[in-house]
Amino acid sequence: MLAHNRIAVLHGVNLEQLGRRDPEIYGDLDYERLTQRIGEFAAELELSPQFFQTNFEGEIVEYLHRVHDVADGIVINPGAWTHYSYAIRDALDLAALPAVEVHLSDIQNREEFRRRSVISDICLTTVSGQGVDGYRLALEALRDDLAATAG
Ligand code: DQA
Repeated sequence: MLAHNRIAVLHGVNLEQLGRRDPEIYGDLDYERLTQRIGEFAAELELSPQFFQTNFEGEIVEYLHRVHDVADGIVINPGAWTHYSYAIRDALDLAALPAVEVHLSDIQNREEFRRRSVISDICLTTVSGQGVDGYRLALEALRDDLAATAG
């Protein structure tokens, strides 16, 4: 078991509305079921997740300001903030923890404005268009990174 196995799983704006959003794009899990599945993936990988979702940009910024006290790595799906929030980018940078960006949908193959992410270059990797399974890939990438830096 990794000594540093605490993962903050952060969801941004509108993501608590999953289930009501277009299932063709986002799948049919609601936010509660999504977090349950992520919790199952984390348990299989011996990671300890903690979940946070907000529709208020300042709240995710403030969470990121103190995340280093409670987590060793970050999975983040900022929702639409992905495409324009330099405030979240700066706070994620400040957190200085390994982070993986996840999108349920394939942001490269939707509207033009979704193609740009302002956080991808400060993340270990981006997983996009894999639905809920993308979170498993993200957790695996974080576990590998934490294992590599542990020794
Ligand atoms: C999303 C993609 C974003 O473009 C969108 O605004 C979301 C969800 C995704 O998970 O596919 O709210 O981050």
